[in-house]
Amino acid sequence: MTQTSHILCIGAGYVGGPTMAMIAAKCPHIRVTVVDINEARIAAWNSDDLPIYEPGLDTVVKIARGRNLFFSTDTEAGIRDADIIFVSVNTPTKTFGQGAGRAADLQYWEKTARQILAHSTRNKIVVEKSTLPVRTAQAMERILNSNTAGLRFDVVSNPEFLAEGTAIKDLEDPDRILIGGHETPDGRAARKAIADIYATWVPRERIIESNLWSAELSKLTANAFLAQRISSINSISALCEATEADVDEVAYAIGTDSRIGARFLKASVGFGGSCFKKDILNLVYICRSYGLNEVADYWESVVAINDWQQARFVQTMLANMFNTVAGKRIALFGFAFKADTGDTRESAAIAVARQLIAERAHVVITDPKALDNARHDLGDQAALVEFEPDPYRAAHGAHAIAVMTEWSLYRSLDYARVLASMEQPAFVFDGRNVLDHRRLFEIGFNVFPVGKSPLRHV
Ligand code: NAD
Ligand code: UDX
Repeated sequence: MTQTSHILCIGAGYVGGPTMAMIAAKCPHIRVTVVDINEARIAAWNSDDLPIYEPGLDTVVKIARGRNLFFSTDTEAGIRDADIIFVSVNTPTKTFGQGAGRAADLQYWEKTARQILAHSTRNKIVVEKSTLPVRTAQAMERILNSNTAGLRFDVVSNPEFLAEGTAIKDLEDPDRILIGGHETPDGRAARKAIADIYATWVPRERIIESNLWSAELSKLTANAFLAQRISSINSISALCEATEADVDEVAYAIGTDSRIGARFLKASVGFGGSCFKKDILNLVYICRSYGLNEVADYWESVVAINDWQQARFVQTMLANMFNTVAGKRIALFGFAFKADTGDTRESAAIAVARQLIAERAHVVITDPKALDNARHDLGDQAALVEFEPDPYRAAHGAHAIAVMTEWSLYRSLDYARVLASMEQPAFVFDGRNVLDHRRLFEIGFNVFPVGKSPLRHV
């Protein structure tokens, strides 16, 4: 068991909050403090209304909060007291200057390095939890080891593989924990200190140790491979629609091949989330910076197919609604980028809503958890949109329903009641292939799934 007594995590977001709550719950002998510059976020972490929706998170937080888990805005004190500092700040895509739209924006990251340097009075292990370009640890080390006080900082990469919506399950029972460090006695000792924390509840054989650069690159590569599978099946969904093949049947048939595997083969309106697009574009940027243009082109096509799939979804709506949606009420069922989260970052629903607004449709958005984020994402265009928590009311008077998120509640609605309240002919565009298409058709809907033949009366 580790001798570590105090962990600090800088960044109380979707990763920092749940990850530290899990460590604190599993390791009562370790004091865990999570800091953030966002005061409202910290206040929410200290309240009964946590800042993010994640199934099971409140239970884990309640086990440890006030015992050995603390949320605070006092970064300076946190740094001073910590033996190990996890850095879990945001690393979004750069929107300005060199690499804009591709490279990772490392300003928040670098700022934490300078804060750690400014407030440390003893040696520390610094853990990269954020997803970062390969070789970022080198920059971190250079900044930290520029100190003149003779302090030693060991930088370790421990990328996070949790997915939103299943974060607690992923943290409690991870496929693996990856810890990268230098192949030196100090590097190995730092790696072991981090491994010992996880070993409290994760079987040792699932804790993988590697060199620093492999760990950093593995994170970007894992997300690129996952996203590539979705773009692959989505590209096939278009061919299915053209040939009367059924994409779910194709996915099942290929997924039973143990070399391929069944997961991440669900065709959809397109992947979203804060990670896939950002991390692939970052990978593309890194490849280009090493002159590996063919490699960059290959991974960039994964994002291009995803953009195309989102646009194709709206084109299908237009083409089948008599080439115009102007003035028509269209209900978007779901806005979160996937079910069981309120997160809407890069959600396909944003692109779909924007395109429908451009076509002058009257867009109504319903979602059980994501309406506030949806309003925020649409900015000025939010004024043109209706936000309605109740799906029945959202569909009332609509010409079409478009399923954007696979919330289970949309499967159990009374669609005869929904249909009776809609304009006729009524359309369903199922961007997640989660509804009972045959039944909807039989009661009178015109149904357009992804990657399957439409079922239409008109
Ligand atoms: P987030 O935006 O939800 O949280 C980041 C937090 O860091 C914010 O609350 C921000 O205020 C805070 N912050 C920024 N600079 C700070 C500073 N100097 N001091 C204190 N707080 C500071 O981001 P996230 O979704 O938690 O992602 C964090 C990192 O983890 C990113 O690199 C991301 O790519 C990676 N990641 C995310 C997920 C995911 O599912 N969201 C999964 C795996 C990895
Ligand atoms: C992803 C990675 O899975 C996770 O390991 C990493 O740490 C962060 O990025 P996340 O973005 O939270 O996690 O969710 P994920 O389940 O991967 O879904 C991403 C997007 O792909 C969602 O929009 C989802 O609906 C979509 N998706 C997923 C599909 O369209 N089809 C699938 O088969 C799987």
